[in-house]
Amino acid sequence: MANIVVLGTQWGDEGKGKIIDLIAPSFDVVARSQGGHNAGHTVYIDGKKIVLHLIPSGVIRSGKLCIIGNGVVVDPEAFLTELAELESHGINNDKNVAVSKKAHLILPYHSLIEKISEREKGSKKIGTTSRGIGPAYQDKAARVGIRAGDLLNLSVLREKIGHNVEEKNIYLEHFGEKKLDKERVYKDFVSYAHRLKKYIKDVSLILDECIKQGKSILFEGAQGTLLDIDHGTYPYVTSSNSTVGGVCTGLGIGPDKIDSVIGITKAYTTRVGEGPFPTEIPGKMGRLLMEKGNEYGATTGRPRRCGWFDAVAVAYSCRINGIRKIVLTKPDVLDVFDEIKVCVGYKYKGEILKGFPSDIWELAEVEPQFINVKGWKTPVRGIRERSSLPVAFWDYIKRIEELTQTDVTIISTGKNRKDSILVEENLRSWMDVEKIKAEL
Ligand code: GDP
Ligand code: IMO
Ligand code: MG
Repeated sequence: MANIVVLGTQWGDEGKGKIIDLIAPSFDVVARSQGGHNAGHTVYIDGKKIVLHLIPSGVIRSGKLCIIGNGVVVDPEAFLTELAELESHGINNDKNVAVSKKAHLILPYHSLIEKISEREKGSKKIGTTSRGIGPAYQDKAARVGIRAGDLLNLSVLREKIGHNVEEKNIYLEHFGEKKLDKERVYKDFVSYAHRLKKYIKDVSLILDECIKQGKSILFEGAQGTLLDIDHGTYPYVTSSNSTVGGVCTGLGIGPDKIDSVIGITKAYTTRVGEGPFPTEIPGKMGRLLMEKGNEYGATTGRPRRCGWFDAVAVAYSCRINGIRKIVLTKPDVLDVFDEIKVCVGYKYKGEILKGFPSDIWELAEVEPQFINVKGWKTPVRGIRERSSLPVAFWDYIKRIEELTQTDVTIISTGKNRKDSILVEENLRSWMDVEKIKAEL
């Protein structure tokens, strides 16, 4: 079957984890290409909640090869903790987990530097997940990063850690933070090296071999398009390319290995952290959406800001990523509304804009142009048959398809695997629908 990229079309938390787990039976390999343990992908199995941060969500399905690409930044402690947590849930798939030799590591100074950076920004802080993600990518771009492969050569590791800790200590001391002991950091990383070495591999080569053997690959996006370092709402973004280009650079595969890109799209909009959000709903109504949708960050527990569906933003994401197919998640959260607003345009200084603004000072001042769509006012949570969906619900879906120029392939009606409607005629060319249904 095909190799498919699944990524978020909004500001993250669209429900990627649930969908990856749902469709994983159709694939042999699940691979992450960017981000780190800033991600929080929630999967419910038999009522048990499992949140994946760093390890691909495919790990839950036994036998799937799970790859962490060179574009991911890896905190060794977070990686080992996550494996231990999976084990505590009875998930023992770790012999199938591989980490790229070229993946950059997150060191203790990264989160300390991030703390200082956020503190110094004051009211202009980004509202990061404080996992050290940005500073780790900073070191990668500055060509001083330490990579997973360095754990396989302890003399190189000692030299790099020594040099970096000395340099970072100048910064930490300047901002009144305690200096790090380079020998202590080195010793901790020697211990990680022993525990991690069996996972560290040339994943680009592994993927190539898998593709040659006719295996199919699911590329699992983290974050969302509007958090992309280039195409997102800069600087209120994450530090990696969460758009489709990140898949090739973050795993070492050619674009000809990607057959299609599917966008995971929430039926409304959420955002964690700071930054402009044109369709944000203030006050009681926004809180209602937050409570009904249980919109609290899967990584930090922060309440997510909530707003109406923004077709301008999602259409932009679809253009950037070449998305023609989407999965619609969480429409069940909208059950209570008499009328549902959908943003169909942005007005700026009296003119309707042609696209999504490149600059946040413009985005912060756009006036969203809304249409009202009739609510269905009846519970759809857990509905599994297309024929059981109310007409007004279908109208909402059709409206989203028209506005974003996409076809809906799956409608998710709840957090559980089974709460899913497969639009089979739109899925069949890309996935083995029978396999997915057999393991529901
Ligand atoms: P991700 O980061 O994109 O994987 O999304 P998160 O896991 O951070 O957030 C999505 C949340 O919505 C999780 O708590 C999911 O269990 C939940 N969820 C996913 N799909 C649905 C759905 O269709 N309906 C409802 N009510 N909840 C869903
Ligand atoms: P998943 O994969 C939602 C946000 C943070 C912050 C900004 C930068 O679960 O969809 P960072 O720590 O990455 O430097 O923070 O990006 N952010 C996310 N928001 N979902 C995520 O991941 C996110 N990962 C980062 O809240 O605004
Ligand atoms: Mg999440």
